[in-house]
Amino acid sequence: MASFSLTHPLNLKPSTAISTSCFPPSFYQNKSHIPNLRHQRQPASCKGSGEHDQSSVGNVDRRNVLIGLGGLCGGAAVAGLGSNPLALADPVAPPDVTKCGPADFPPGAIPSDCCPPVSTVKDYKLPSVSKLRVRPPAHAVDEEYIAKYSRAIELMKALPDSDPRSFTQQADVHCAYCNGSYDQVGFPNLELQVHTSWLFLPFHRWYLYFYERILGKLIGDPNFALPFWDYDSPPGMQLPALFANVDSPLYDKLREATHQPPTIIDLDFSTADIGVPPSSSQVSTNLCTMYRQMISCGKNPRLFYGEPYREGDDPNPGAGTIETVPHNSVHLWTGDSTQPNFENMGNFYSAARDPIFYSHHSNIDRLWSLVRVYVCDSLDTKKLGYVYQEVEIPWEKSKPKPRRGKSVLAKTSTTAATKKTTTTVNFPIRLDGTISTVVPRPKKSRSKEEKENEEEVLVIEGIEFDENYPVKFDVHVNDDEQSPCGPENSEFAGSFLNVPHWKKGDNTIRTNLRLGITDILEDLGADGDDIVVVTLVPECGAGLITISGIKIKFIS
Ligand code: C2O
Repeated sequence: MASFSLTHPLNLKPSTAISTSCFPPSFYQNKSHIPNLRHQRQPASCKGSGEHDQSSVGNVDRRNVLIGLGGLCGGAAVAGLGSNPLALADPVAPPDVTKCGPADFPPGAIPSDCCPPVSTVKDYKLPSVSKLRVRPPAHAVDEEYIAKYSRAIELMKALPDSDPRSFTQQADVHCAYCNGSYDQVGFPNLELQVHTSWLFLPFHRWYLYFYERILGKLIGDPNFALPFWDYDSPPGMQLPALFANVDSPLYDKLREATHQPPTIIDLDFSTADIGVPPSSSQVSTNLCTMYRQMISCGKNPRLFYGEPYREGDDPNPGAGTIETVPHNSVHLWTGDSTQPNFENMGNFYSAARDPIFYSHHSNIDRLWSLVRVYVCDSLDTKKLGYVYQEVEIPWEKSKPKPRRGKSVLAKTSTTAATKKTTTTVNFPIRLDGTISTVVPRPKKSRSKEEKENEEEVLVIEGIEFDENYPVKFDVHVNDDEQSPCGPENSEFAGSFLNVPHWKKGDNTIRTNLRLGITDILEDLGADGDDIVVVTLVPECGAGLITISGIKIKFIS
């Protein structure tokens, strides 16, 4: 296991601790010098307005089916990117199961052997689909469904741990693929990681697929379909009741006590927000967050899926829009802040030990299938035998609004106002507190056609921090750095958010954040400006994050 090291990548001394609300108390017992600047946002000022189906053939090591994921995922992600020239690159190869090693667990974790029992790897062929399984929204399922699902989980939990279909081993699949059990084949120094890249969506789709099939098999119902936690829709914006019944096998005691139903979820959550009650406008703010992540920021497939992750690449090249938010934020919101590592949902080694994990991921998978209709027409879930029950998409029209009214924007060039007080930052810089910097725009006032062909992307490059921290910072464009706005306003361009997942050796993670800003700049009336003023607001982990640069690039 990796040694715990607080040596900062740039050997910069962390700044003084300001608040302790952002990491679990046990973090501080051992690491009392960890800084934790909790930025106080000022919301008041922000209101602008069969036969081959191995899961069904008894005691087959279904995890060896997953081993094919590396290749399948790479291929799948590539297919999803359509005509992207990157599609020609080699995908990350599937791991060598005979070389599965111990996973890396953070201090205080309850470890497990995350490696699957070794058996022969077979190619999985999808069975032909006679009837589609329909995944229902978790808040709307009836008693009969809850009884059936509970029974399925009960049976899965009752299987001996040595059984690859057991709940323990299913949870361990997640641990193996994100806590360093595998190296990339041919690259012994590169961990295989299924998060923070374009592997994220296809990996989890297949992961859920087999989990669902096993549950169906255990209760003798081939049409059993997992429920999705529709936290993107008002009736689903709380922990679904079926998971909150303490007597149910769907219950997990390692969840945040202050986030039990009917507490409304905060999709822009960071662990700095623990104990902060939801605002009265939480539902509409969540809808704005969904709009931003699904529509304005994720217009380009690469931004939506995440960065290419190819053979020989370092892990974590960059997450797609929905991986960061709401995926990561929902993990952290659900995990128990009194546990050393926000177990279970708030840390990737333990996340899949909570049955709610699979409903969280059903929703992420569904959000992907929604996008599919206008991003690409491959990757049909129907071939996997399931669809999602049709529900309203309430965030489609929840476009964030500029905090300054149109008339004000017209009078003052947005950037001119802020430029006077903003200097250019010298990178690399440690994010001790809020920073603002001027970023030149290589192109401005582009035609509608140019904008359709190329998305203007704000790239926060070389984000480095310790892997085991739930760090979050928000990115604002042309905002007031003294009182940055919330997700309900256009100036809030997006967030960077890490779910801790621990890693062998050096715990420093290095990744990038890309945010589409074409729509935002139009909304702000700033499309004719030569520059943008970018403000980075650390919400959690200030002093632990360094940034190597901020640039504007164009992605076609
Ligand atoms: Cu593999 Cu929600 O994480």
